[in-house]
Parts: sequence; C-alpha cells; structure tokens
Amino acid sequence: MIINVAIDGPAGAGKSTVARAAAKELGYIYVDTGALYRAVGLNALRIGVETTDAVKVAETLDSISVELKFVDGEQQVLLNGENVSSEIRTPDASMAASNVSAIPAVRAFLFDLQKDIAKKNNCIMDGRDIGTVVLPDAQVKIFLTASPEIRAKRRYDELIEKGSDVDYDDVLADLIKRDYNDSHREVAPLKPAEDGVTVDTSGLTLEESIDKIIETVRNKI
Ligand code: DC
Repeated sequence: MIINVAIDGPAGAGKSTVARAAAKELGYIYVDTGALYRAVGLNALRIGVETTDAVKVAETLDSISVELKFVDGEQQVLLNGENVSSEIRTPDASMAASNVSAIPAVRAFLFDLQKDIAKKNNCIMDGRDIGTVVLPDAQVKIFLTASPEIRAKRRYDELIEKGSDVDYDDVLADLIKRDYNDSHREVAPLKPAEDGVTVDTSGLTLEESIDKIIETVRNKI
C-alpha cells in the first residue's frame, strides 16, 4: 500500500526541513509543493506579468511547463526544463508565489502533478492544502505551526546564512502578510484538516520536531 503523509502549515514553520528529514528516515520521498507555486510566480516575474493579475497569470500557464524531478532523493523544480530550484527562494519569488497561489487557474494547473506523484510514491508532501484538498485521503495529516516571531527568526537566520542582506522586521512583516494571504484566499485556504494532528514547534528543537513527526507517522500506519 502506498503511504501518503500530508504536512501543511504557515510559512517558516519548518515544514520543509522537518519533512525532508522525516522522509529520509522513513524511506519516503519528500515533495515540496510550494516550489511549484514559486516556479509559476518566478515565471510571471521574469516576463513582467503582475502576479496579482489573475487573468494575465492564467494566460502564462498556456506556455509553461512545470515539473518536479527527484535526483538522489532531492527534489528539483524545472520551469520550461530549466532547474530553478535556487532562484525560487528569493523574497520576491516568495511573495510572487503567495500571490499566484490565490489564483484558481494556477491551483488547477498544479493539482494533477501533485496527485500523480502521491499516487505512485510513498511520500511526505508539504504545502498549505495537502491534507484538505490535494490528498484528502492521506493516511497521516499534520498541521505544523509555530508563532510568527519564531518563524520569522528562523527564516531570517536561513536568509542571512545564504548571504542575503535582510532585516528581521521586514522578514516578519512579509511573513505576516503571506500568512494573511494564504489563509484568507477563497480557494484552498491554509487551515488544519479536521482529521489531522496539529504540532506546534515553537518550543521544540529541530530534532524534537523531526522525532515528533516520525512518531506521529509511525503511530498512524
Ligand atoms: O511553502 P512555500 O513558502 O515555499 O510556499 C510558497 C507559497 O505558495 C505560499 O505563500 C503559499 C503557496 N502554497 C500554496 O498555496 N499551496 C501549497 N500547497 C504550497 C504553497
């Protein structure tokens, strides 16, 4: 039987780090669905389309391909065949992703791709609507969260480590704005699945968060 684990939660909750490590331990593939929205957002930025313009962004979908490739278990996101896995991580691409993710045509465009991967692989898939919309039948659903200040601090440390020149207050303001966008949009808003488990990582170390996820998965399957 194929096992699907859905991990949803707000930006900066540690979903990707925790999910990646837990997937490795469990021998599942890790699928970061935010990368797909980021690729669509990046494409719009590159060609100068306003990322809040639903009609124009929807038009861009006719001429792009977005794919996920797994190389030695690591996910790469390909935009028109080009590996854009690093370029999608900038603050501009984050905001573009949040904007385009509110557009129903974008969500529909990326839906089958996510379903297909889950159908064929034991996986931990992270996103915002995985347990509620993409994989409503996932055997395990986790809502991973933490306070906005802690999430902003983690994101800030990550960006500084990568050499970005960012300000903590800007990171926090961006994150609060994205939380609002992601949880107030009409289609597939960020919210815990009714049959899921909420894990708050505010007071947990990374190791403790990973252990908690692995334990939750093992208890459920
Ligand atoms: O997880 P992330 O920060 O890389 O996601 C980027 C944006 O994409 C985020 O602001 C919300 C959106 N997103 C979404 O709407 N649904 C998903 N399943 C994953 C991400």
